[in-house]
Amino acid sequence: MADSPRQFDYIVLGSGIAGLTFALKVAHAGTVAIVTKKSRAESNTNYAQGGIAAVTSEEDSFESHVQDTLNAGAGLCNEEVVRGIVEAGPERIEELIHLGMKFSERETGNGGRELDLGREGGHSQRRILHAKDVTGREIERALLDSIAANENIHVFENHFAVDLITTRKLGQSDTNRCVGVYVLDNETNAVETYSARTVILATGGCGKVYLYTSNPDIATGDGVAMAYRAGATIANMEFVQFHPTCLYHPKAKSFLISEAVRGEGGELLNLRGESFMEGVHPLKSLAPRDVVARAIDSEMKRSGDDHVLLDITHKSARAIIDRFPNIYQTCLQFGLDITKEPIPVVPAAHYQCGGVQVSHDGETGISGLYAIGEVSCTGLHGANRLASNSLLEALVYAHRAAAHALAHPAPAVDSPLPDWHSGDATDADEMVVVSHNWDELRRMMWDYVGIVRTTKRLKRALSRVKHLQEEIQEYYWDFTVTSDLLELRNLATVAELIVQSALLREESRGLHYTLDYPEPVESFAKRNTLVARDNKEG
Ligand code: SIN
Repeated sequence: MADSPRQFDYIVLGSGIAGLTFALKVAHAGTVAIVTKKSRAESNTNYAQGGIAAVTSEEDSFESHVQDTLNAGAGLCNEEVVRGIVEAGPERIEELIHLGMKFSERETGNGGRELDLGREGGHSQRRILHAKDVTGREIERALLDSIAANENIHVFENHFAVDLITTRKLGQSDTNRCVGVYVLDNETNAVETYSARTVILATGGCGKVYLYTSNPDIATGDGVAMAYRAGATIANMEFVQFHPTCLYHPKAKSFLISEAVRGEGGELLNLRGESFMEGVHPLKSLAPRDVVARAIDSEMKRSGDDHVLLDITHKSARAIIDRFPNIYQTCLQFGLDITKEPIPVVPAAHYQCGGVQVSHDGETGISGLYAIGEVSCTGLHGANRLASNSLLEALVYAHRAAAHALAHPAPAVDSPLPDWHSGDATDADEMVVVSHNWDELRRMMWDYVGIVRTTKRLKRALSRVKHLQEEIQEYYWDFTVTSDLLELRNLATVAELIVQSALLREESRGLHYTLDYPEPVESFAKRNTLVARDNKEG
């Protein structure tokens, strides 16, 4: 630890699987601050139901997992990256188990026990390690228990990262290096200056940019927006994954019905009980997510119904309750017994396949800044993420980034960093403007930049988002910052990146489907969509 409580060797932004794993791996070599905007367990990871895809069974093979990932990714995955992650999987899983993670097991038949492997869309094998249907919660428990026992790791809860501090912003150097972060303490409302030789973005995704999402409220694209403002390159933001099955109920906010339900035989039906996935894809209800989400969207548009059904009632009540205790209990609270009746479901924004472009070691283009987990774009997901590959990617890249940061320690930050200058006016109508703009932005993204796109709607969205950005910037500069305003500012940045990237891709591929270019175009097959700004302060 350096001499001031706000100087660290490593600052990790975010407390999901990627950030916590990284922190545990570097803490022996220096002090670590984990900055997280809510409580420490509140992360996208915490809500992961499905699990971690990894090759752990003798019936499975690396090649099969690689091919399933490439098939889902629709030609845009980086095959070398895919192979590297898939092959690193078993070791990272062993490590997590060693740390205390308890995956579900089953009896082998000869008195022994083995890992219970689930199946999800696009996987040709059972390979999903899970803890019933609360895998993320169990991962967070195991990692946070280890974090609590480590005195080199300091967790700052209810602290919101406002912006990265870079040498270029400070006008100090031609080489852009990240040297710290401005952080809003939500309890005192003060913005503090944190410095570190290495900063890690592990802030997750941006589901809240859409009106309907499976993500928790924290998923506001903070890391992508900060990295973009600091000058990093952002890749493939047009590929937003819509999960086909979120619970459709007026009181159920963001509740996911895991793809594992379809993996266990759950069938998608329209309200007349017809199986509309017949003839759409050979894997029917278990087709990759982009195919299923589009088929549901099209079925809802065709029928005029506001949801479809997912039926698992052919399984015994005991099997359903044992495998999906969380889904069963949550649906029951809404008056729905999934052992007896089909589940009403709709698609919702779920996962950001693009993000901050990184190297094999998780380095961004800004020296001293790494990005790991959903905030990053490694090349694994391509145009569509294979289910349950993301927790694996987070583990592998947390490991690699930690190894790289330990092997290449950045120089210490020797001069004190400037304090934050805050606007000092407050305004009675500020909160209503912020909440109005939040709603407008999210609805506009859902209506114009959703599962099926057109150039006309994308252009309309771009002009709306630019207008919103102007209003938000005015508030940002003139008024005291609040976490709501900061989240809105980040969401608007991310919305613009998604729209810009979608307009650049004049084809349909994976998750990006546009009626104006309904087919894939060969010249786009290996082309990542890259967006960077010119490093002006904003
Ligand atoms: C799910 O349980 O369906 C989510 C799994 C994932 O998004 O990878």
